[in-house]
Amino acid sequence: MIQISPSILSADFSRLEQDVVDVEKGGAHMLHIDVMDGHFVPNISFGACVMQSLRPRTDLFFDVHLMISDPLTYAKDFAKAGADMITFHYEADSDPQETINEIRDLGLKVGMAIKPGTDVKVLDPFLPQLDMALVMTVEPGFGGQKFMTDMMPKVEYLRNWANENHKALWIQVDGGIAASTAKTVADAGADVLVAGSAVFGAPDRQEAIENILQAAGVSL
Ligand code: DX5
Ligand code: ZN
Repeated sequence: MIQISPSILSADFSRLEQDVVDVEKGGAHMLHIDVMDGHFVPNISFGACVMQSLRPRTDLFFDVHLMISDPLTYAKDFAKAGADMITFHYEADSDPQETINEIRDLGLKVGMAIKPGTDVKVLDPFLPQLDMALVMTVEPGFGGQKFMTDMMPKVEYLRNWANENHKALWIQVDGGIAASTAKTVADAGADVLVAGSAVFGAPDRQEAIENILQAAGVSL
């Protein structure tokens, strides 16, 4: 099943609740929450307190993408603030195995992300333990960038691994996902599509979500 996870990075923060309710009613399956620290990536977004305020306002699954240097230290704060899944970067300076253990101990689903320049094979030792692998299709840090088609072999690699090992692994793509790129990522094997500007930038969010799903081959 293909799922859409709209990224609130492209929402209007002055009316965050309305924007989130809008995508919830519009058929979003998850809510993608981009946390940036101005250190791991050259941009600062928001932290756990914003998430905590949002938590009682929606029933959407909170798909938290930590673009921060020390995810091991901060995972607990995001768990308390209502995360359902925490995805951290392989390139961050926390030990990946310890970070997976911590997120599991907190009772959450766990994902690992890789930047465009990172070899997908670095994930090999961790794949059996993950709920999701995230292939960045732009350099992390900003919404509205151009989709990198050359990341698709990574998605194919992960899909083949999951098939061969009979493992339920969500494969998420993040960056430049829109109706125009949805077929490419779905054909490669991605099943969780993050879309920021393509959803929140559209006047009709339900239509935007449906357009992406249809382009990905889902019949509505
Ligand atoms: C980028 C973030 C993305 C971003 C995607 O660093 O991780 O989630 O919001 O935005 P679009 O869909 O506009 O490329
Ligand atoms: Zn993201």
